[in-house]
Amino acid sequence: MRRAALASAGLAFFASLARAQSQNETGEHPGWPRWCGKVYESGYPSFEPGGHTTEPALINADGSPNLYVQFKPRHSIYLAGETTGSFVVNAALSPWFGEPWTNSTSDGKSAPEAFTDLFFSISLASDEGELLVESSIPVNSTGAFFDFDLTGFLPRSDPYEVILSGASQFGDQNYTARSQFRLLPDVAPEGSATKIDNLNGGLLFKNAQTGGAFVPLLPYGYYGLYNGSNSTSESDAFVSQYSSDGQGLNGIISLAGFADTNPVYDSMDASTMRFMFDLRGSFMNLTEVEQRVNTIKHHSSLFAYWTADEPDGWQYPFSVTPAAQELIHQIDPYHPVAVTLNCQDYYFGEYSMGADILMEDPYPIGINSTFSKWGTACNATLGDCGCDNCLGGPQEAARRLDYLLQYEKWLGTWPLPKFHNPQAFHGEDYWARDPTPGEAFVMNGLAFNRGVTGIFAWTWPSSDELFDAHSEVASVFTTAPVRDFLLGGKPAGSIHIADQELLDIAYWVQEDELMISVVNAGYDDIAPLSIKVPLPATVIEEVPFGGLSWQLAGGQLEVDTLPATSVSLVILSLE
Ligand SMILES: *[C@@H]1O[C@H](CO)[C@@H](O)[C@H](O)[C@H]1NC(C)=O
Ligand SMILES: *[C@@H]1O[C@H](CO)[C@@H](O)[C@H](O)[C@H]1NC(C)=O
Ligand SMILES: *[C@@H]1O[C@H](CO)[C@@H](O)[C@H](O)[C@H]1NC(C)=O
Ligand SMILES: *[C@@H]1O[C@H](CO)[C@@H](O)[C@H](O)[C@H]1NC(C)=O
Ligand SMILES: *[C@@H]1O[C@H](CO)[C@@H](O)[C@H](O)[C@H]1NC(C)=O
Ligand SMILES: *[C@@H]1O[C@H](CO)[C@@H](O)[C@H](O)[C@H]1NC(C)=O
Ligand SMILES: *[C@@H]1O[C@H](CO)[C@@H](O)[C@H](O)[C@H]1NC(C)=O
Ligand SMILES: *[C@@H]1O[C@H](CO)[C@@H](O)[C@H](O)[C@H]1NC(C)=O
Ligand SMILES: *[C@@H]1O[C@H](CO)[C@@H](O)[C@H](O)[C@H]1NC(C)=O
Repeated sequence: MRRAALASAGLAFFASLARAQSQNETGEHPGWPRWCGKVYESGYPSFEPGGHTTEPALINADGSPNLYVQFKPRHSIYLAGETTGSFVVNAALSPWFGEPWTNSTSDGKSAPEAFTDLFFSISLASDEGELLVESSIPVNSTGAFFDFDLTGFLPRSDPYEVILSGASQFGDQNYTARSQFRLLPDVAPEGSATKIDNLNGGLLFKNAQTGGAFVPLLPYGYYGLYNGSNSTSESDAFVSQYSSDGQGLNGIISLAGFADTNPVYDSMDASTMRFMFDLRGSFMNLTEVEQRVNTIKHHSSLFAYWTADEPDGWQYPFSVTPAAQELIHQIDPYHPVAVTLNCQDYYFGEYSMGADILMEDPYPIGINSTFSKWGTACNATLGDCGCDNCLGGPQEAARRLDYLLQYEKWLGTWPLPKFHNPQAFHGEDYWARDPTPGEAFVMNGLAFNRGVTGIFAWTWPSSDELFDAHSEVASVFTTAPVRDFLLGGKPAGSIHIADQELLDIAYWVQEDELMISVVNAGYDDIAPLSIKVPLPATVIEEVPFGGLSWQLAGGQLEVDTLPATSVSLVILSLE
């Protein structure tokens, strides 16, 4: 993305400065032109760039697991007036993390019993240690959540520190974990606030339009350029065209042309558009961050901030993004901070540290994945072919997310909400062509099947064809019922069909309904196709996307022809 980004925003100077500063983050080879740690211009040797995220060593030499207890507030923020908070508690058996666990507990008098449940309490970490939750969960379970009473707490900007103490039934094995929650004064009625749902990885948003209630938000749009006109009628026209009058795209990341005082922000406030505010040109200068955040934070259509654009590609110092995040949280605790990572794995853990939301932007269409315009080979130790360590093709959206989800597991961190950035451009001698609409559908479908909760394509304006394709997806995926499946839980499972490597199927369950997403990432039709429905379903309720004539017969979901590069959604009633 970098060259398009910089040219369009006129940030070439900033970029060269950043690159000069950044060459040294990882020590060796100062001054060499590197991207994702690898030299990309010819005339330099290939070398192992480092920064790989690897599987941790087994915590016990014999491979037996420890008990890894983690907890978090269900929502990243609570606001005054909310009466109930909630904690998500995980008690996973892990080969890499946690404290020793043996499957036995005893009071020392009777015979030992199996250690099947973790009994725990969650209390304030302050001296009084007020008890908030007391309960138990099965060992090796995750994602249970427990409500607590918020009414006794004073809203304040400092977080409340909390501590979980857990033990086996007879207390002979015990565990502690720490976390914090935030209870803030309510946001001004003309402003907005966004929560992260730490259980399902999606966002909730409130402003006056939502009646002051938090509602699910699945933001979908482009990184957008604006012509910068200071005319309100022109900015109104832009918003109405971009969002198809509220029927299509619902989000934008404000790139060049969106000066901080431009009337376009008021136009968005008056519409149902939501924007992520672009700080990528200023996040290294905290004075500027403070000024700009204070100018923009009152807008009712603001839902998040964006700081670092591909810090891993540029090899920025690790500390810059977390510093910007910390400052933004102080000045405006009501909106989360997003970071875009470009590399497949260059210090993934370090570079995701300053992010509340992680965006990933592999651009895989029309690339030469093995030989670059710079005249070098591209591989794990050399070169830049426009998509780091990619084979190319829409499947890269799946590969990249699979990697990032794996890295979070290996790091033992709480998974961040993830937004996918599909390619909606070509050029710069990396990308020979635009994706087709089918490839655009597929990249997004593969990403949703891996639990992403937002989409921002690079860049607006794109071709009309891609704009129409993305608007069509947005109109379905950002609204009920599809949005509520995607934000109401992570994918419940995936379905593999023998000899169909390019068929990617995931499903979600909400109460008595099942939604199945069928992505044909291949360039050939599949005819016919039959999918075993994973749960006992009675009837097809709806085909929200794809427009195919699906049939349910004998527990199989069937279609005569599944077209090449297509996405289908089917909602079924469960018994
Ligand atoms: C890179 O780092 C080394 C060691 O920390 C230092 O001696 C050198 O001056 C730095 N080079 C540049 C170009 O900043
Ligand atoms: C613990 O032991 C009990 C009794 O042997 C067994 O049923 C259970 O599956 C074991 N739990 C785990 C997580 O291994
Ligand atoms: C714990 O749960 C994980 C995920 O469900 C499973 O793969 C693993 O086998 C379980 N471990 C034990 C010891 O039961
Ligand atoms: C936790 O377990 C350790 C080791 O068995 C024990 O020494 C300690 O007293 C226990 N702590 C509590 C609070 O039960
Ligand atoms: C819009 O107005 C601002 C503030 O008055 C000014 O700085 C900017 O140059 C104007 N932009 C355009 C495109 O006229
Ligand atoms: C800016 O964009 C708006 C909406 O797309 C359009 O109506 C207007 O003519 C454009 N203005 C300029 C100066 O290009
Ligand atoms: C940081 O931003 C402030 C405010 O825009 C500006 O005055 C200052 O010169 C900037 N500092 C650097 C090092 O660019
Ligand atoms: C990539 O570029 C090299 C060198 O120009 C060429 O030999 C190769 O065929 C290209 N590969 C593809 C897939 O275009
Ligand atoms: C990458 O290509 C360079 C140049 O052909 C070669 O020297 C190097 O061994 C390759 N690296 C890998 C990991 O294949």
